[in-house]
Amino acid sequence: FPFSPTDYTIRPLRRSDYSRGYLDVLRVLTTVGDIAEEEWNQRYDWIKSRNDEYYMLVVCDGQDRVVGTGSLIVERKFIHSLGLVGHIEDIAVEAGQQGKKLGLRIIQALDHVAAQVGCYKSILDCSEANEGFYVKCGFKRAGLEMAHYY
Ligand code: ACO
Repeated sequence: FPFSPTDYTIRPLRRSDYSRGYLDVLRVLTTVGDIAEEEWNQRYDWIKSRNDEYYMLVVCDGQDRVVGTGSLIVERKFIHSLGLVGHIEDIAVEAGQQGKKLGLRIIQALDHVAAQVGCYKSILDCSEANEGFYVKCGFKRAGLEMAHYY
């Protein structure tokens, strides 16, 4: 993907990102828990085996340390003539790296993937506090989230 500033790169998640700070980046978003490397490997392999459904990107700094991440999950529907919908999930930028347009780049890259694979739209859930960020990324408020926790 075209990407600047040049000090950063954006690429698919790798198995070895376990030791490059990936889980710490997710901790700016929510509780992650203690995930052992073996558990990480199992989940990574499961996701990797579905690589036409899960698109997980990371932004790395010049030392290849993970400083940001975001995921796109492509849902295959019957409606809208077998339409595909992109679900944007788990966008996070390390606290000290926020405000440098890295979040915007992650969304642009995921949008690019969604359009390339044929999604007719991408959707996401966010807090009111993040609405302005997603508006700057080209999203608009639509619908209402409901949740049922188990
Ligand atoms: N409200 C309003 N505008 C914002 C916000 C906000 N909360 N955050 C960023 N912006 C603006 C920036 O000022 C910038 O505007 P500009 O182009 O006019 O300068 C533009 O949005 C792009 O901002 P970035 O620098 O790309 O944002 P950043 O790299 O800091 O990433 C993010 C934003 C991902 C929300 C980051 O702050 C973060 O990781 N927050 C904690 C975790 C989180 O809340 N993640 C989102 C959860 S929702 C989900 O995952 C679907």
